[in-house]
Amino acid sequence: MRFDTATRHLSLDPRDPAFYHDPYASYAAVLAQSPVAYWEELGCWCFFGYDEVNRLLRDRRFGREILHVATREELGLPAPRPHTQHFDEVDAHSMLEREPPVHTRLRALVSRAFVSRRVDALRPIIESMAHELVDAFPREPFDLLTHYATPIPVRTIARLLGVPQAMAPRLLAWSHDMVAMYGVGRTYEGETRADTAAAEFSQYIRELVAERRASPGDDLLSVLIAAEEQGDTLSEAELVSTAILLLNAGHEATVHALGNAVHAVLQQGVPMERFVHDDSAMARLVEESLRVVPPLHLFKRYVLADTEAHGIHLKKGEQIALVLGAAGRDARLHDSPDLLLPDRAQSQHMSFGAGIHFCVGAPLARLELQCALRVLFQRCPRIALAGTAQPKDSWHFHGLDALVVQV
Ligand code: HEM
Repeated sequence: MRFDTATRHLSLDPRDPAFYHDPYASYAAVLAQSPVAYWEELGCWCFFGYDEVNRLLRDRRFGREILHVATREELGLPAPRPHTQHFDEVDAHSMLEREPPVHTRLRALVSRAFVSRRVDALRPIIESMAHELVDAFPREPFDLLTHYATPIPVRTIARLLGVPQAMAPRLLAWSHDMVAMYGVGRTYEGETRADTAAAEFSQYIRELVAERRASPGDDLLSVLIAAEEQGDTLSEAELVSTAILLLNAGHEATVHALGNAVHAVLQQGVPMERFVHDDSAMARLVEESLRVVPPLHLFKRYVLADTEAHGIHLKKGEQIALVLGAAGRDARLHDSPDLLLPDRAQSQHMSFGAGIHFCVGAPLARLELQCALRVLFQRCPRIALAGTAQPKDSWHFHGLDALVVQV
């Protein structure tokens, strides 16, 4: 890593295993010099400090979308590419990719359907799912991601949306292919795969929507359709994009949040028993693990008009990056920021974002993490690491390749 204090330019290869195995060491080294740096390999200004990330995510001078305030020609952006048209069509109606007023309308419709009563009702279902998975744990060392952390979130979100459980493997495959579009080092092949996945996934959701229109159930998709039909309009395309967004966002991050949390607990030797019987201690453990080992490390924003932030001149159309993974370990906020200490007075983190795009699924993710950890600690009190877990080469989706344990 090279950091020039005069220009605040940072050179650091995100594909270097030395970096992505422990990005926190680099974040701390940057933060020790400045909360802001121009990261040459990413080609944009990056914000690492908790306060900076928190403020900028809430700052309406920046947004996830740019084409609502500028044309492609004005910004010198390439024309839409035919080989990603299905993927782009899903993105175009996804609330995550839109700014007000479209975002406000989509988010309100989803929030109205995604009420806490609906989330809370999933608790017994998640717990019984977790018990079933523990019942089937192999006797020999096995990968906890495959046998536990992966199936729980996908089955939960499928259940919530009313997608048959048998579809879980297809949902995982489509979602992996689509999420690759947000990683470092995109390839033409990867883009084509993502487009095929988007086309198949959309077709599947359209068929499901037709079924639910004919015979509505008590699932989120039926509720979203009803919202549309009462005139408060989710178009067919928006319905498809929303369902895909919820299914994708609803499991990828949670898998790694769970894997990272278990890994940190075992690695740091945190005693597990008290969390089984103490709900508030468990809630604190989950927040602290989201602070120390968050699954999503970086999100970008467009600069919506020429402006200035932290003494940096920013031009309309350029992008900035908010390093959520660094913000939670900002030493200006937490003592011993690298330690998982569930008894901290506060575990402040940016792991669910902030501002208008704050994670709509945060209550569900917290519930899943609390239920899954409780059942695991209760049923497997002697669980231990059986090998060294390696982080994936996908840095800002920060998870492990495998988490081999013995129970
Ligand atoms: C531990 C697990 C999770 C983490 C760490 C996480 C993190 C995030 C973050 C950081 C954002 C904001 C992105 C930005 O500002 O650019 C976000 C947005 C979102 N998340 Fe999550 N998420 C998790 C689980 C979930 C679940 C379970 C669901 C769905 C059920 C979900 C659905 C969404 C949606 C729909 C958005 C877009 C919100 C908007 O644009 O208004 N997430 N998530």
